[in-house]
Amino acid sequence: MHKPVLLNETLDLLNVTPGKVYVDCTLGLGGHSLEILKRLDGNGKLIGIEQDETILEQARNKLSKYENCYLFRANFLELPEILKSLKIEKITGGVLLDLGVNSLHFDTAERGFSFKAKGPLDMRMDNRQELTAYKIINNYKEHELADIIYKFGEDRNSRKIAKSIIHNRAKGPIETTEELANIIFSCYHHITNRSHFKIHPATKTFQALRIEVNKELENIEEFFCFIPELLLPPSRLTVISFHSLEDRIAKNFLKNNREFRPITKKPVIPSSEEIKSNPRARSAKLRAAEKIKNESLFKNN
Ligand SMILES: C[S@@+](CC[C@H](N)C(=O)[O-])C[C@H]1O[C@@H](n2cnc3c(N)ncnc32)[C@H](O)[C@@H]1O
Repeated sequence: MHKPVLLNETLDLLNVTPGKVYVDCTLGLGGHSLEILKRLDGNGKLIGIEQDETILEQARNKLSKYENCYLFRANFLELPEILKSLKIEKITGGVLLDLGVNSLHFDTAERGFSFKAKGPLDMRMDNRQELTAYKIINNYKEHELADIIYKFGEDRNSRKIAKSIIHNRAKGPIETTEELANIIFSCYHHITNRSHFKIHPATKTFQALRIEVNKELENIEEFFCFIPELLLPPSRLTVISFHSLEDRIAKNFLKNNREFRPITKKPVIPSSEEIKSNPRARSAKLRAAEKIKNESLFKNN
């Protein structure tokens, strides 16, 4: 069963209040949205955005009985246009970003997100886009591959892995997640005892590819550029991240943007009970801030 991460903590920080407008920018299977709708109790609006068609359909089924729920297949960067289409000028309640991919992405071999199951090198959340993991692995130059593996995977073996990818693809295209995982694994041949690995050696490269395919970090940065002006004080911005690269962007934005008052001094993390019942929650970090009025901004000067 699908379990939304840090559910009660997120809803409390969003301060869900009937009558207000909320946006779930990463709808997923609708776990957080369902609870927002329950708390709205028919008053106010919930807008849900999801770029993955299959996942959106599941959320639609889950939320179909709510008339105050508006769902869109889109990238969250399209939020300004979505609000215009609904004739909504400002978000009065709050916004949620529950970043990254869905557990469904990892569990479906044909989507190519997991090195644990054989599938095509795809990794697109939005299957309308052209860039796939296959194109990156088989077309990027060696230094470009090394750069993304280092930057988005934080893997110190990035150069070695990039070299090995180039060497192997000279024999013919690298087609599957399994082939790629084996190529990466072979870069660690000097370590013979598998128990020495804390994580599978392919973990970081697969993370890097996913981030590059879906422009995950660029999207967050761009989103933070326009979201302040869409929020009416005292609405709230909540962000759940799953790795340090995402969290760093959220942390810096929420700390340094003078239009927001941070509500979480330190990130909220899942309890040990939540991690036990949902191991995927283990790396989650939740941060929240409140949009402040312009007058308060001037007072602080
Ligand atoms: C961690 S899941 C969200 C889970 C959700 N909160 C729930 O309770 O089911 C993140 C979702 O956001 C979607 N997503 C990621 N980046 C997106 C973007 N830029 N625009 C729209 N959807 C995005 C992914 O496809 C994925 O389904």
